Amino acid sequence: MSAEYLVDGGVAVITLNNPPVNGLGLATRTAAVEGIRKAELDDTVKAIVLTGAGKVFSGGADIREFNSPKALTEPTLHTLIRVAENSTKPVVAAIHGVCMGGGLELALGCNYRVALPGAQVALPEVKLGLVPGAGGTQRLPRVLGLERSLEMIVSGTPVLSDKLAGTALFDEVFPAGTELVPAAVAFARRIADVRPLPKVRDRSVDHPDFEAFLRRSRESVKAMAGPFPAPLACVECVAASVTMPFEDGLKFERERFLQLAQSPESKALRHAFFAERAASKIPDVPADTPTRQITRAAVVGAGTMGGGIAMSFANAGIPVTILEMEQDRLDKGLATIRKNYESTLKKGKLTPEKFDQRMGLITGTLSYKDIAQADIVVEAVFEDMGVKESVFRHLDSVMKPGAILATNTSTLDVNRIAGVTSRPQDVIGTHFFSPANVMKLLEIVRGAQTGKDVLATTMALSKKLKKTGVVSGVCDGFIGNRMLEQYLRQAGFLLDEGALPEQVDQAIEKFGFAMGPYRMSDMAGNDVGWYVRKRRAIEAPDVTYSKTADLLCEQGRFGQKTGAGWYDYVPGDRTPHPSQMVNDMIVNHSKELGIERRAISDQEIVERLVYALVNEGAKILEEGIALRASDIDMVYLTGYGFPLQRGGPMFYADWVGLPRVLASIEKYAEGRNGDAWKPAQLLARLAAEGKGFNS
Ligand code: NAI
Repeated sequence: MSAEYLVDGGVAVITLNNPPVNGLGLATRTAAVEGIRKAELDDTVKAIVLTGAGKVFSGGADIREFNSPKALTEPTLHTLIRVAENSTKPVVAAIHGVCMGGGLELALGCNYRVALPGAQVALPEVKLGLVPGAGGTQRLPRVLGLERSLEMIVSGTPVLSDKLAGTALFDEVFPAGTELVPAAVAFARRIADVRPLPKVRDRSVDHPDFEAFLRRSRESVKAMAGPFPAPLACVECVAASVTMPFEDGLKFERERFLQLAQSPESKALRHAFFAERAASKIPDVPADTPTRQITRAAVVGAGTMGGGIAMSFANAGIPVTILEMEQDRLDKGLATIRKNYESTLKKGKLTPEKFDQRMGLITGTLSYKDIAQADIVVEAVFEDMGVKESVFRHLDSVMKPGAILATNTSTLDVNRIAGVTSRPQDVIGTHFFSPANVMKLLEIVRGAQTGKDVLATTMALSKKLKKTGVVSGVCDGFIGNRMLEQYLRQAGFLLDEGALPEQVDQAIEKFGFAMGPYRMSDMAGNDVGWYVRKRRAIEAPDVTYSKTADLLCEQGRFGQKTGAGWYDYVPGDRTPHPSQMVNDMIVNHSKELGIERRAISDQEIVERLVYALVNEGAKILEEGIALRASDIDMVYLTGYGFPLQRGGPMFYADWVGLPRVLASIEKYAEGRNGDAWKPAQLLARLAAEGKGFNS
């Protein structure tokens, strides 16, 4: 049953029932239409109440039916809204909890709307690169006015029902604690005989100077929309609510909706939306896998990462103790945390109470015995196997049974780390990204012996920390950094062949990356990669790479922290300035290699950087290191600044077409350093089969 029907003293109550959020799927729409028709035919019924089961009215379209023919099967949402709007008996929407998207559009088609306070009201379609498609942009301005409705539709942000009390959106917002359905039924009885039936569509949108308002809105929305067309389309639809008759406005909105649904930007946003949900599912770890309780945490190492990780725990209300080896390092780490919170406080993004509460949750120690009772400990010491092994031996000897032992290593072998403990089932990788209290991504590295309950607990923890958890198998660099290595290799070869850092950065930033590889390396510290390359030079001596980065580090140009890197910096300012000295060094190096430098197009730069990610991603997928292509996309969208409008490297490759991607890779394999371009078997196979990574 997807909508229940009962009659209560002359009022039919139709309850949408499609957990978890009463999504308006085909079965629910059908039952709602049948309910309204039944009520119309029943002479004892004078009015109809439409409400939602459980704690919400309706969250809108049923996301399980996205991209399915069911979404277009009659009765569509449009039909349901028309049936409600044209009912011969008054229909009252009784709203609580959540009233979003199609749910709000349905409510706007009803004759009356009553609500409990605290209900979240929104038209969030813009977040998926769309405009509301079932009349939302035409009806909302008719009850809220131009300015308020435009703000809601362009931002997609929920507004609480109590904040909207007194507007024509709600006929009544009941006091807190009211029982919704009986109150709505009583309301329905009161208005049962009122004729003509009020309809939102019959109202007009009044604004004293709508043309100037719309002109200003177009300008400001254009400036903030970046590469996404949907926000401006929202403005045009809202404009249509003033400038066109209702039916024409509906048609205009529908056309924009269909157009945007086909746009690459909306497809990318919808892909990211589903990818995030998919990432939380691990095939052999079902949702009901028992989890361990995490009420106390510990972090080893109060450096860059340790401090940020401790803040993530404190932000989630979990008390955390940081263990350091020396008092002054501990003091420095704690002072940095305080400074970070203070700056948030100053910006007004944290209340003084929350500041005290968070600082109160973080303690420091030099003694292992003070962290022994933690439910999880995250190691964030130097990226050195010897140091990590010694820390894990210590942890094994002191931590209480059942504690999760996690490592924040960015490249090292989690199985080897687990191997020095007597409890490898409790060991897992939790790879945070810098700054750890800000970045969304948490790569969760599953060791060969990691227990399923440990994995399930860590996945649940990632949600609690407000992170996107993505599972990776064990390999050097895991998903993100293993791919990044190929990206940086190409960036280096481009310098050897004729490009300069600013050209590489500009080309990829124009493609949409938040930051090019050289600006990024200067920010993260060039020494980090230097150490990794030195280790790899021993472990994998045959792997070629440009020596320019090593030459840079030999001069101590580690990036922003040393005031000089690929770029020059003015003290106290993070703006990069092209460095004549570095550029000369690059040109000289090409000469030493006997390379005649050539002009390299932006297109070649973008292809080589992005396809390097794609090719390595395909290898990661075929080796089973990533569970699905969309997980790789999530890693790049949430941890590496890959342009959201392109949906992640694997989604982008599908969009370009795998045969084209493969052909380019084969072409680059013929060029200099072609050994870096061995096409992944999976890529070649899918290209031959006419398939994509995500389909
Ligand atoms: P860091 O050098 O800033 O901090 C390391 C801290 O660990 C230092 O304060 C040091 O005193 C402390 N430490 C070293 N040995 C210790 C021991 N035996 N007991 C207690 N404390 C000890 O290093 P960072 O950047 O925070 O990196 C830490 C880990 O996180 C590394 O494994 C690194 O690969 C990883 N990582 C780093 C990222 C970054 O952007 N910096 C990003 C993601 C992971």
